[in-house]
Amino acid sequence: MKKIVIALDGYSSCGKSTTAKLVAAELNYAYIDTGAMYRAVTLYFLQNHVSRTNPKEIKEALKNIEVEFHYNPKKKRNEVYLNGLNVEDEIRKMYISNQVSEVSVIAEVRHAMVAEQQRMGRKRGVVMDGRDIGTAVFPDAEVKIFMTADVDMRAKRRQVELLEKNQLVNLDEIKENLQKRDRIDSTRAESPLRRAEDAVLLDTTHMTIDEQVEFVLEHVTAHLLNK
Ligand code: DC
Repeated sequence: MKKIVIALDGYSSCGKSTTAKLVAAELNYAYIDTGAMYRAVTLYFLQNHVSRTNPKEIKEALKNIEVEFHYNPKKKRNEVYLNGLNVEDEIRKMYISNQVSEVSVIAEVRHAMVAEQQRMGRKRGVVMDGRDIGTAVFPDAEVKIFMTADVDMRAKRRQVELLEKNQLVNLDEIKENLQKRDRIDSTRAESPLRRAEDAVLLDTTHMTIDEQVEFVLEHVTAHLLNK
């Protein structure tokens, strides 16, 4: 069967990655969590005190950054590696969430990540979640979904997710972080978060994960049947 690109974009903590993972498993596609790539770059910038304003220093740093995904069969998930080190748990921490949008506005960072994501998806057969997949990374993605949800619901879901990783974070702090990231992500100059004209809107406020997966799969099936 023809392999396609499925782009899941949208606001922070709408259930994009959980949905994307399950859709990819169902279709036997690769899953690429592009947010994890920006998080890994942010970790590198913090660890190495990389300037956010000096283009030369940024370009030099980017040459030294290798982000990879490796499957962990025990945990049945893809995990993120930064220069050979597993950073899956570290990049999900709040101090990274608090800095990642600022690093993600840097044009050089975006150019490098977008190019890498295009390379990863060049054979198609991928589900990619992020902010600019349907607009900048794969404007020709066959299925584009733009996800949104009520911010209080998103904050609650995020709190539960963090708790499952043994991180106890106040609801207000989470909500503030989500709103701040949404604002920075939507207003940056380079490939901002926005709904592609041909993306289907999916509001997950009152939906279960299974319903979200079904919604995406219905659009995939409709696309494949029409071609
Ligand atoms: O999906 P996430 O919450 O892990 O993403 C973390 C941040 O990375 C998000 O707030 C903005 C940035 N990001 C981006 O700029 N472009 C993407 N395609 C994915 C994420």
